[in-house]
Parts: sequence; structure tokens; C-alpha cells
Amino acid sequence: MKQEHARIQLDIDDTPREYLNILPHLKNPLPPPINPATEEPVNPEMLLALFPEECVKQEVSMEKTIAIPTEVREILMRSGRPTPLQRAIGLERALKTPCRIYYKREDVSPTGSHKLNTAAAQAYYAQKEGIERMATETGAGQWGSAVALACAYFELEAMVYMVRISYEQKQYRGTLMRTYGATIVPSPSDLTEFGRKINKEQPNHPGTLGIAISEALEDTINNENTKYTLGSVLNFVMLHQSVIGQEAIAQLDVIDLSPDYVIGCVGGGSNFAGIAFPFLVNDRFRDTKFIAAEPTACPSLTKGEYCYDFGDTAGLTPKLKMHSLGADFTPPKIHAGGLRYHGVAPTVSALTLEGRITPQAFNQIDVLNAGVLFAKTEGIIPAPESAHAIKSAIDIALEAKKKNESCTLVFNLSGHGHFDMAAYAALMNGTLNGDEPIGIPQATGDLLTVQGK
Ligand SMILES: Cc1ncc(COP(=O)(O)O)c(C=O)c1O
Repeated sequence: MKQEHARIQLDIDDTPREYLNILPHLKNPLPPPINPATEEPVNPEMLLALFPEECVKQEVSMEKTIAIPTEVREILMRSGRPTPLQRAIGLERALKTPCRIYYKREDVSPTGSHKLNTAAAQAYYAQKEGIERMATETGAGQWGSAVALACAYFELEAMVYMVRISYEQKQYRGTLMRTYGATIVPSPSDLTEFGRKINKEQPNHPGTLGIAISEALEDTINNENTKYTLGSVLNFVMLHQSVIGQEAIAQLDVIDLSPDYVIGCVGGGSNFAGIAFPFLVNDRFRDTKFIAAEPTACPSLTKGEYCYDFGDTAGLTPKLKMHSLGADFTPPKIHAGGLRYHGVAPTVSALTLEGRITPQAFNQIDVLNAGVLFAKTEGIIPAPESAHAIKSAIDIALEAKKKNESCTLVFNLSGHGHFDMAAYAALMNGTLNGDEPIGIPQATGDLLTVQGK
């Protein structure tokens, strides 16, 4: 095996200078967000109460590219961009597959995931407009950590509502956020009217991203000089993440490869969009298949309805046209907290409907077993979210082996799992559940299985 292709590292000056916008490339215009009261498209002005002006402009922009501000690009470079594209040589050997498997290393960011790519941009635009405080929600804590660091860089206060189950499972995530200077509370909290209502109706509610978003929005509306910052779903977040795929294309060009598959896990859709959209808009990759990997416990793309729904549980957001399990859906307490979201980015939804993206759902036992194999063979403990993409890549590589075919796969390693060891401990102790909510078969178990019930 050729070792020279083990890791493709671009020069720091090759960090992208522009964001790549998917909107002008869609076959049909994206259905606009609507005001639930009037069922009419929302005026972008309405979004200005919540988001920095530049983000609102980007949300509806039809420009093919948008320049990355120098200050943001500098943070991207200080945070490890361009991130390496690494060949999974150990994993390929373990699978005895003829396929070439590459992964994009978003785990190298100081906060451990892709989330800083957009947190830095949003904090920068807010600070430029004189904002002093940002409110947000976080599931597994990766987004909250990125917001905390971005706010520290731009000297903003950060207020983070963390989904209660993740707050309990991943306590050191909270400590990391506090180290960066953020204030963090478990959600549902007693700090907002909506949180108090949920706590009264159902004490010890595990929380959901939908509820935490409602709390952060209520906080934003009720506090002066505060903007809301969102880590996924909206068009401008997908835009900021496009640095991932742009780099991956440049890296594959170095070794003259075109991928047969591009794979990412999907919560709200941002890391998937980040790796996939730059390939999707490029005619050179018209034969590439795009796989969106989600949990069977929260199968928005594979089982959700394509409809207008709220982005949060309290119904404070405009309605978005997306695949949704319902804004009040409470997913089982799987460890991939970042994938416990009822909806998906409207752009990812629209492309799935067009048939350009193929969604797949995986059980958390199979997923974490894939994570363990990856750790053993590549040395990196993946975030449980990212392990969904790994599971998909493994299945494709094994299927190709069966057929005696070779192919090239690229998946996004959206984050590391250093704060997710409780998930791996549960797997190895045999106390992990499959957590299947909607009539989906239990874990398949295969040659990779460690344990789990
Ligand atoms: C490591 C990691 N991967 C993936 C996700 C899912 O979010 P998205 O689909 O927006 O990338 C999260 C969300 O918290 C995450 O922390």
C-alpha cells in the first residue's frame, strides 16, 4: 500500500478565502420560511431580531460565493485549517477491503469538532455590529464549546442552554465551556418561562435540542444586546461549513482521485453539508453518491415527513420546509446528542427529496462498535455522532469487498469523542441499548461487534 497518500495536508495559505453557497445551485428555489400566524413567507427583517445582519443577508443570498472575513479566516487557520484529509489505512486493512477510505479531520479543531467554523463567523459578525452577548443551545456540547471559544476570541458573553441528558452524560463538556468563560445551564432550565413550564409538566425531562433552542430564543428576545447563535439547520450555517468540502476537493486533487461516495452524519445537517455541498455543486462529481447517516433513534430524513414545521419545540421560530419528526418529538437518550434533533436543514431536505442525497439510519450499538473499530485501527476515538458516518463507510466498503469491487470513499470525521467516554464505557460494559423508537429492527451485530444488548 502506498504510504505517501496516508495524509494529505494543504498549506495554511490554502485555507479557503470564500464560502460556497448552495442556494443558486438548487434545481428548484428553496421553499421560504413562513410565519406560522399568517402562513406567508417571513420577511428577512424578522430574523434581524435574532441574528446578526450579515447572517440574515447570507441566509437568502443567491451569490455563488461570499468572501470569508480576514478575522474569521485567521481563526480558522489558528484552529487547524486546512484540516488534514487522512487515509484510513488501518481500517482498510482490518476490513480487508479493496476500497480506499479517506476521512476529513474536523476533530483537530481546539474544541474538537467542525462547529467552530460557523461559531467564529457568527461571533465575528455580531461583535462587528456592537453585540455584547450570545445565547445558544447545545446538545452533546460540541456546539456550546465552539460558541464559548468564539465568544472568548471576540470578547462576547456566552450563555449556553445544554440539553439536560447531555449535561449529565458529558459533564466535562460543561467544564470546558466554563473554562472558555461561558455560562451554562441544563435545559429545560428555570431561567425561561418555557423551561419552567416543561419542568412543571415533567420534572427530570431529559431535554431535547428543540426545547433548548426555545429557551435560547426566549433568552435572546428578553435580553438586551443579545443575539442568538445557531449551530446548524439554517442556510448561513451550511455556507460557513463549506470550507470543509472545498479543502477536501483540493486534497483529493493532489492525489488525482474522485470519490465514489461522500458521507457525513446528520443532526441538523451542517457537517454533512460542509463536506458534501462543494462536491454536489461541482459537475466533476456528478457520479458521486452522497450518504447522510442518521440514528434510527431520531430518523428525520429516513422516516420524517417533508413538511413545514417549527425549528424549536415552543414554536418561536418561523416554520421551515424540512423533513421532520415533529417539533415535540423527544428522541430516546442516545449518546449522539448532536443527532437528537427532530428536523434537518431545508437545503439537505430539498436535495434528499431530489434524490441527490441518500439517507441511511443506524442503531447506536452498531454505530459505537464501528467507533471502537475505528479507534483500534486509526487511533482516534470518534464522537458518537461521527461514528454514524464511519458505520456507513464500513458497510459500503464491506459490500464492495463482497462484490469484488473497489471504490473511493470520503467521510467527514466531524469530531472526536474525548468527552463521550461514557458512551464507550456503556458499550463495553454491555449496558447500552439500541434505542429504537419507531418500529425499526434491533442492532444487527456483525463481525465488528464488541458488546451491547
Ligand atoms: C461532532 C458532531 N458531529 C455532528 C453533529 C451534528 O450536527 P450537524 O448535523 O449540524 O453537523 C454534532 C452536533 O452537535 C456534533 O457535535
